[in-house]
Amino acid sequence: MKLFDVYPINDIIIEKALGSNVWDDKGTQYLDLYGGHAVISIGHTHPHYVKRLTDQLHKVGFYSNSVKMPLQEQLATMLGKVSGKEDYQLFLCNSGAEANENALKLASFYNGKKKIIAFRKAFHGRTSLAVAATDNPKIVAPVNETDNVVFLPWEDEAALEQAFLQYEVSSVIIEGIQGVGGINVASESFLRKIRTLCDQYNAVFIADSVQCGYGRSGKFYSHDHAGVQADIYSMAKGMGNGFPIGAISIAPKFQPVYGMLGTTFGGNHLACAAALAVLEVIQEEKLIENAAAVGAYLMEQLRTFDKVIEVRGRGLMIGIELPAELAHVRKELLHTHKIFTGEAKPNVIRLLPSLALTKAHADEFLAAFGKELSK
Ligand SMILES: Cc1ncc(COP(=O)(O)O)c(C=O)c1O
Repeated sequence: MKLFDVYPINDIIIEKALGSNVWDDKGTQYLDLYGGHAVISIGHTHPHYVKRLTDQLHKVGFYSNSVKMPLQEQLATMLGKVSGKEDYQLFLCNSGAEANENALKLASFYNGKKKIIAFRKAFHGRTSLAVAATDNPKIVAPVNETDNVVFLPWEDEAALEQAFLQYEVSSVIIEGIQGVGGINVASESFLRKIRTLCDQYNAVFIADSVQCGYGRSGKFYSHDHAGVQADIYSMAKGMGNGFPIGAISIAPKFQPVYGMLGTTFGGNHLACAAALAVLEVIQEEKLIENAAAVGAYLMEQLRTFDKVIEVRGRGLMIGIELPAELAHVRKELLHTHKIFTGEAKPNVIRLLPSLALTKAHADEFLAAFGKELSK
C-alpha cells in the first residue's frame, strides 16, 4: 500500500525536536516558527509534558466516556480558570473540524434554526458542516454543499445586519484572526456587532479559536481583545501540543441532554493528560504574556523593513505580506537559513511558533529575513 498523496511536502525528515528547534535525520538544526501549523504551543518535547504523558501511559491510556474520568473534570476546572470562563461547560473531541462541527450542531439544537453565517476567506475544517462554512470551493465536495451557510464579506456590518433581517440565523462563526485566509484580524467593533445581533435575534456566536486561541494572540482567546463573550469557543491545535485533542467551551445557557453530542476517543486519559500538561506549562511559564511581548517585538521590527507590504496579527500569530516577486523568501528561509515558517497565500509568510519563543529566536529570524530582503 502507498500513501494517499494529498500533501505537498518538504523533503525533510524530522527526527528530533526540543523547544523551538527541530533536527533532521542528518543532524541539521532548524528554528521552528511554524509549530507544525500552530500546534506546538509550549515547545517541542517539553519535559513536563513528556513526563505527564509517560506517567499517564503507564497507568491507563484509554477508556471510553462510559466511566467517570477525574482527569476530564480537572481539565474543565483548569481550562475554565486559565481562559477566564469558569461558568462555561466543556465538551471534548479530537480535532478542530470536529469542534466546529459540534459547535454548529449545538447552536442549531439550541435555537432550532438552520442558517449559519460565515465570512469570506474563512477556514473552519474539512468535515461536512465545517467545510460547508469554509470559503474554499475546492475542498467542498458536492455532498457537502448546502443552502444553510451564507457567506458575508469580512467586516461588513451592514451586510451582517441585512442577513439577520433576511434569514433565520442559527449561528455566526468567526475566527478572531483568520489563519488560512492570510492573518486577518477581526476588528473589535465587528466582533461586538456580532454579539449584539446574536443577542437581538437569539443566534449563537461561535468563536473559532482553533488556530488563534489558546494564548497565541496574547490573550487566551483572540476574541477577548474585543471584550465580548462568545456563546461557544472551539479549540484544538495548541491544546495538546501535538496530542490530538479538540474541545468546545459552552456558555451556561446551553442545557446538555444525554446523547446530544458524543465521541469515542474525545477526552481520553492520554489526551487529558496532554492538555493538562499544556495548561500547567502555560501558567507556570507565563506563556500568554510571553506571546504578547515577543509577538509585539517581532511585529514592530518587521514593520521596519521597507519591502514588507504589511504586517498583520496579534501576539505570536503573525502574517508578513510581501510583494509577489518576493514570494520565494519563505523557501529561502527554510533551505538557506533552516527556519520553518508557514504560508497563507504564496506571498504571505505566517509565523505560528511556540508561545515560548524567545527574543533571541526572534532576532535569529529577523537577521535571516533581513538578509533575504536585502539580496
Ligand atoms: C481556524 C481553524 N478552524 C478549524 C481548523 C480545522 O482543524 P483540524 O485540522 O484540527 O480539523 C483549522 C485548521 O487549520 C483552523 O485553522
